[in-house]
Amino acid sequence: LSVLLLNGPNLNLLGTREPGVYGSATLADVVSACTALAEGAGAQIAAFQSNHEGALVDRIQAAGRDGVDAIVINPAAYTHTSVAIRDALLGTGIPFIEVHISNIHAREAWRHHSYLSDKAVAVIAGMGVKGYEYAMQHVLSTFKKRVV
Ligand code: DQA
Repeated sequence: LSVLLLNGPNLNLLGTREPGVYGSATLADVVSACTALAEGAGAQIAAFQSNHEGALVDRIQAAGRDGVDAIVINPAAYTHTSVAIRDALLGTGIPFIEVHISNIHAREAWRHHSYLSDKAVAVIAGMGVKGYEYAMQHVLSTFKKRVV
């Protein structure tokens, strides 16, 4: 199985960014925890973070060409704005799980809407950075190789 872990804008600042909301773990911690899970299950993992919408779209398109089987994505602020990221995911047909560190439903009203959730296999919000690991465990235990 081949999994892509995608993170959107400002998640490179995890660890120092609003620690009361997002905790003290860094993005490197998240990537290494998910890598350990993937490797333990004999799966391949690639991780990518960008602050740029188009770079995320390009990376999703590349995953489609590369035959990636699953995407775990925290689109960050683009969750609430990006038709382009939604269309890229739908365009590749790769099943994805949407992760939010914070509970977006307990925050500002404009964070309650996601452009991705109605197309996601599952949505995790409010479990802190552990949510990435739960998403990865679900992918590793239930997803199948895609027939491309
Ligand atoms: C976030 C929630 C978004 O509303 C916010 O813009 C982020 C992070 C989360 O992980 O809780 O950057 O996706």
